[in-house]
Amino acid sequence: MELGLRGKFALVTGGSHGIGLASAKRLAAEGCNVAICSRSQARLDAATAELEPYGVRLLSVVADVLEADAADRVMDAVDAEWGELQILVNNVGGGGRWGKENVEETDIRVWSEVYEKNAMAAVRFTRRALPHMRRARWGRVVTITSIYGGKEGVGRPWFTMAKAAETALMKSLSGMGYLVREGITFNSVAPGGIWIPGTGFEDEQRRDPEAFQRQLDAEYPLKRLGTPEEVAAVVAFLCSTEASLVNGANITVDGGQSRSF
Ligand SMILES: NC(=O)c1ccc[n+]([C@@H]2O[C@H](COP(=O)([O-])OP(=O)(O)OC[C@H]3O[C@@H](n4cnc5c(N)ncnc54)[C@H](OP(=O)(O)O)[C@@H]3O)[C@@H](O)[C@H]2O)c1
Repeated sequence: MELGLRGKFALVTGGSHGIGLASAKRLAAEGCNVAICSRSQARLDAATAELEPYGVRLLSVVADVLEADAADRVMDAVDAEWGELQILVNNVGGGGRWGKENVEETDIRVWSEVYEKNAMAAVRFTRRALPHMRRARWGRVVTITSIYGGKEGVGRPWFTMAKAAETALMKSLSGMGYLVREGITFNSVAPGGIWIPGTGFEDEQRRDPEAFQRQLDAEYPLKRLGTPEEVAAVVAFLCSTEASLVNGANITVDGGQSRSF
C-alpha cells in the first residue's frame, strides 16, 4: 500500500528508542523526513545512525520534556531547520512503574511528573505543531497511549490518569471541525505490553525468567509481548494519506491482551 508519506516532515517525540525509534524508522522507510528528540545526545546519535540509511532528512534535538520549555525548543529547531511539519507522533511518556504499590506512600511529585511527561508533553507539542498543519492544510497527530489509558483502566493510577488524559486530548481535538476540515486527524495508539530491551520487562524477566513466562502464558493470548515494530506499523498507517477517515480513534495494539471491547 502506498502510504503517501514521501517528502513529508514528521516529529517523533522520544524517538531515540523503543516504540518511538521504531516509528521513526518506519516513517523514514516510507520516505518521510524525521525529527526526533530525547534527553540523551548519545541515544540520539545512535538512533540517527540507524535512520541514516533511509536517505531522508533527519533532525535530532536534546530535550527533557519534564522541562516546561522543552517542546518550544524542539519546535523552534524544527521551524529553523525545516519551517514545516505535517506529522507529529506524541510518543514520549511512561511512568507505569514509577512510585510505589502503596498510593499513600507515593510522593505527590510522581503524579505531576507522570502527567507532565505524558499528557502535558502531548499538549505542548500538539499546540506548536498545529499552525504548521493548518498552513499545509493537512496533518496527522498520533499519540501513543496505553491499554491502561482506555477501557482497561488498571495499572498505577498516575499512569492510567495521564494516559487517559492523552486519549481524551486526541478524542476532543478530533471533534474540532475547524481543524478536521483542514485535513488534520487526531488518533491514539494504545499498546499492551511491548518488549523493549533495557526497559522494565527485561528487568522482570532477568529477576525470575520462569515467573515472567508464566505471566505471559496467563495474561497474553500470544504468550509473548508485542514488538515496537508491530506498534510502528499501525502508527505509520494512521500517519498516511490512506487513513483520512480515521479520526478520534483509539486503536488497541496488544495481541488480545486486554479483556474489554
Ligand atoms: N513498552 C511498553 O510496553 C508500552 C506499553 C504501553 C504504552 N507504552 C508507551 O509507549 C511510549 C514509548 O515507550 P517505550 O516503552 O518505547 O519507551 P523507551 O524504550 O523507554 O523509550 C523512551 C524514549 O523516550 C525518551 N525519553 C524518556 N524520557 C524522556 C524525557 N523526560 N524527555 C524526553 N525524552 C524522553 C527516551 O530517550 P532518552 O532516555 O534519551 O530521554 C527514549 O527515546 C510511552 O508513551 C509509553 O508510555 C509503552
